[in-house]
Amino acid sequence: MDVRARDKVHAIKWSSDRLLLLDQRLLPERKEYISIATCRDATRAIRDMVVRGAPAIGITAAYAVVLAAREHVVASPKQWREAIKTDLQELSEARPTAVNLRWAVDRMRSTIASAPDSDPLGYLLAEAKSIHDQDIAANRRMGALGADLLNKHATVLTHCNAGALATGGYGTALGVIRAGFAAGKIKHIYAGETRPWLQGARLTAWELLQEDIPVMLLPDSAAAHVMRSHGLDWVIVGADRVAANGDVANKIGTYSLAVLAREHGVGFMVVAPTSTIDRHLDAGADIEIELRDSEEVLTCGGRRIAPEGARAFNAVFDITPAELIDYLVTEKGVVERPDATGIRALYDDPR
Ligand code: MRU
Repeated sequence: MDVRARDKVHAIKWSSDRLLLLDQRLLPERKEYISIATCRDATRAIRDMVVRGAPAIGITAAYAVVLAAREHVVASPKQWREAIKTDLQELSEARPTAVNLRWAVDRMRSTIASAPDSDPLGYLLAEAKSIHDQDIAANRRMGALGADLLNKHATVLTHCNAGALATGGYGTALGVIRAGFAAGKIKHIYAGETRPWLQGARLTAWELLQEDIPVMLLPDSAAAHVMRSHGLDWVIVGADRVAANGDVANKIGTYSLAVLAREHGVGFMVVAPTSTIDRHLDAGADIEIELRDSEEVLTCGGRRIAPEGARAFNAVFDITPAELIDYLVTEKGVVERPDATGIRALYDDPR
């Protein structure tokens, strides 16, 4: 069966000549797809959070390169490889933290270089689809590997949305939770709300309920209380970038959960494909953290909640040091207590 057909939730679809993106800003009230026909519109959709989540941004970018190529092949059939460069640069800078975006654009740049002059668009589209399919396959593999680590009757907490909506399908952290739930290993799932965009409340809860998987929402500030008074076995999260030493950038609030988990003896699992590992960066301190408009914090659901004159700090990711992580689950294998040696061992080429 087509790998994509197995999933119920599809954030990204390619439909004959255009990209369809599920507008995640509208969920859970409305399920609407936005039709994207140009690379510039795809760049805007990534910047404006129509599509979000590190692998999903990368896959969108891969298809966006096909749209850019179409425009430039028609406008300048001989010079299109040169003419496309500005679009690709803008695309790769749409959001700074998730390395999958640059990873996908770089992979498509190599494909542009090797594309035949006869049918470059078909060649590029095949590569974009293969990035999409490989992501789903990686998620299914990580789901199985991560679920193996879970104890029976596990109680888990996840943060933000690292599910089908954030990937090509199935999800990273939510893939492990899906697989664990299907195997009867998970007793209870908590999802943190994830202010200010509420990815946990709006997206993770919606996505799990599509498959009748029960979920209990938590205000982000309730995690310590739950760990101390109700018992929790695992925090399971995704990642936007993993540095070569195993430090992890993920949604703001992840670092506090890791500190709390260590204090309360709760396992901390990060689930991310190798497309999220940035081997060029030695440590998490080198990762650029996206700062977004303070209005996102000063308002909630489109309504202002803070008094006029209040200011807000809106860093949307933080860095969890590798020493607070018990397991990094990738499609190439599980790294226990990740560090530079463990990460290097995932690859055939030792660097
Ligand atoms: O700002 P977002 O919604 O793009 O942030 C998403 C996250 O932080 C996810 O946890 C991460 O991208 C992993 S998604 C598999």
